[in-house]
Amino acid sequence: MMKSKPRAHDVEIFDPWGSTYERSWIQQRLFDPVHAAVLCQAESRFKPASVLDIGCGSGRLLRKVHDSWPETHLVGIDPAQRMLEVARQLTPEACFSIGSGEALPLVDAPVDLAFSTISFHHWQDQAAGVREVARVLRPGGTFLLADFTLPTWLVWLLSRSRFHSAAQMRALFEQAGLDVEAQPEIVSRFVRITIGTRASR
Ligand SMILES: C[S@@+](CC[C@H](N)C(=O)[O-])C[C@H]1O[C@@H](n2cnc3c(N)ncnc32)[C@H](O)[C@@H]1O
Repeated sequence: MMKSKPRAHDVEIFDPWGSTYERSWIQQRLFDPVHAAVLCQAESRFKPASVLDIGCGSGRLLRKVHDSWPETHLVGIDPAQRMLEVARQLTPEACFSIGSGEALPLVDAPVDLAFSTISFHHWQDQAAGVREVARVLRPGGTFLLADFTLPTWLVWLLSRSRFHSAAQMRALFEQAGLDVEAQPEIVSRFVRITIGTRASR
């Protein structure tokens, strides 16, 4: 159920896009509303000391996180070099490292709150990625993953795609040791945040 076709170009498409990504029409139509929704969910629950954004792109979400929580330590991870160059230019408040969700360049358990927005469907090994996020969350830390989710019948038709139903997203989180507390729809019925917390010791 969770297997996916390998797509080598998943990272390569974002390197050339890096220089124009911030000016793309899709920012206002999709990414900005998604960022607003994840921040709304987060601000009502947390005041984190540290935030990680996985698949951070140009750092746009982290800049908004900085506006909300100026004292919070911010880290962004992305495999696309050009995206990170733009992120570093525009977001001096954050630290950025090249890496993927499946192999986060972080020690165990430093992170209070992790975000990932409209990136998960690009990850090659999604189960390993969620386990990695669980590994770097401190006990009690939370992961807000916003991405496309599809009705079960459509997932079944698109077998072996990297798009999942809400139930499949919940299963991925639970297999990684994250307790799912909510899965609100945002922006449209095809975009959802899965919110999961690592059990406290
Ligand atoms: C559509 S962009 C979204 C960027 C950002 N999260 C935002 O909301 O603007 C998807 C990002 O996921 C990154 N990505 C691709 N494969 C990834 C992986 N395996 N792990 C983490 N990020 C990945 C891409 O390089 C790209 O920057």
